[in-house]
Amino acid sequence: MKKFLLLFTLSAHFVLAQFTDIHIIKEIRSKDRGLVVSAHPLASEAGAKVLKMGGNAFDAVIATQYALAVVYPQAGNLGGGGFLVGVKNNGEKFAIDFRETAPEKSSRDMYLDNKGKANTELSQNGRLAVGVPGSVAGFFATLKHAKLPMEKLIQPAIDLAEQGFALTEREANLLNSQMQFFNQHNTAKTAFQKEKWKAGDVLVQKDLAETLKLIQKNGAKGFYEGRTANLIVGEMKRGNGIITFNDLKNYHATERKPIVFDYKGNEIVSMPLPSSGGILLAQMLKMSSFENLENFQQNSADAVQIMVEAERRAFADRAEFMGDPDFIQDQTSMLISDAYLKNRWKSFDKNWATPSSAVGKIISQTKESTETTHISIIDKDGNAVAVTTTLNGLYGSKVVVSGAGFFLNNEMDDFSIKPGVPNMFGAVGGEANSIKPGKRMLSSMTPTIVLKNRKPFIVVGTPGGTTIPTSVFQSIVNVVDFKLNPNLTVNLPKFHHQWLPESVQVENGFPEITLKLLEKKNYIFEKVSQIGRTEMIVIDENGNAVAVADGRGDDSVAME
Ligand code: GLY
Repeated sequence: MKKFLLLFTLSAHFVLAQFTDIHIIKEIRSKDRGLVVSAHPLASEAGAKVLKMGGNAFDAVIATQYALAVVYPQAGNLGGGGFLVGVKNNGEKFAIDFRETAPEKSSRDMYLDNKGKANTELSQNGRLAVGVPGSVAGFFATLKHAKLPMEKLIQPAIDLAEQGFALTEREANLLNSQMQFFNQHNTAKTAFQKEKWKAGDVLVQKDLAETLKLIQKNGAKGFYEGRTANLIVGEMKRGNGIITFNDLKNYHATERKPIVFDYKGNEIVSMPLPSSGGILLAQMLKMSSFENLENFQQNSADAVQIMVEAERRAFADRAEFMGDPDFIQDQTSMLISDAYLKNRWKSFDKNWATPSSAVGKIISQTKESTETTHISIIDKDGNAVAVTTTLNGLYGSKVVVSGAGFFLNNEMDDFSIKPGVPNMFGAVGGEANSIKPGKRMLSSMTPTIVLKNRKPFIVVGTPGGTTIPTSVFQSIVNVVDFKLNPNLTVNLPKFHHQWLPESVQVENGFPEITLKLLEKKNYIFEKVSQIGRTEMIVIDENGNAVAVADGRGDDSVAME
């Protein structure tokens, strides 16, 4: 049996955890070399390898994403979509939207039965849950900012898929936990199905390697046309899927203007609609600044109350106003204006929890688990990139494209399938996020770069569905207001509130005194095992960078 060596660095301490040939590195400091942080050590290494070959941060982010599609199949993907925020060393800021779209045969009420009841089983699992994938188009849209040819950037992923890689215990357990769903939703055997995976087993993905080679040879057409398109449409026909050749051929990634705003002398650059992330982040940071958050302690009752109330008001707006800006009136400027937010903040009462009904119309709730993944990168020349990408749920729809070897997303569930019916993250939405052919579903992904004196200061993001914007919010205030070091910022217990449900989620280990004080003000808490997996790089004014991979998973940093 293969021996393993898992190497963790936590706050600069090295702890030998268990034997594996995968090196998990939790923190690296560097002054003049590029850094890559992602959910998997082999993906971070793929990015670092490309930096060593002379690539820039944008080359590295493409290589890391392809590698994640192989070694992190629960969220890394070819069959999903995402958002990228980039800042170049010449000051150029840009955002790439490669979110999935609703297929041409989709319709507003496609998940309602004849009694008008929403069927979330159909929007969350199987072929009808799949939006038209955007990731490969996103990688090609990013290439415009890169230096190396795509053939080189995709090669590490091809090698990993062909030669295989050893699973960690966490990965083996995760695959085992989903086996019944893989069996239920796939008609042919996939690389992921086996009686029982264990740590050290090698996952080889020959079909995926062939798909990657087609992209290497034919560009985006290697995915959206020809053999791969045939296999995707063929997979749709094995069940109730509706994606057509037209849907695939017509898919395009879009470059958008990022949301840019000032927070206490720092310039925040984040994702605009169709992700709600940047708007929510601006709203939460600005509202909490009305109460001078910097005067309080991190995770103290005062600070948590202010931040929860900012989250409550921002998420109520998300449900009412936000959706794909190509289909709805974009109200971003109004929503992040000081005048609007000051008015919204008038109902804040430091003696009492504001009832959610006071800031938006109440609808009942459920919620489920979250999966997505984030990459933060800087290069030695001062370029920075943050990308968050997803299949939506864990392994998306659980459907693997037979012969092509990759999971398809279940992103259709991020639409409001019936206004008022919560999605898998418990988020409700209204007409602004209703299903229409070609429309992108509202997201919470919040890839963010903070600039100080026009240079990258923080590169940050996380998975976690609706907990994404609130985690990024906490990451930024932890550094800017509470002056915490990056390791504590990432690893201390977090909290999350989203207007509905009324309760506040807190990670195990959250200070009990804070909970007790806030319970007296009518706050309700729900303990959860984990919120997000933050990948963060912080660079000081002298160019000293610290990259931290979240301790909640196998996340890892690599250096050029
Ligand atoms: N599917 C999670 C998100 O887009 O926010």
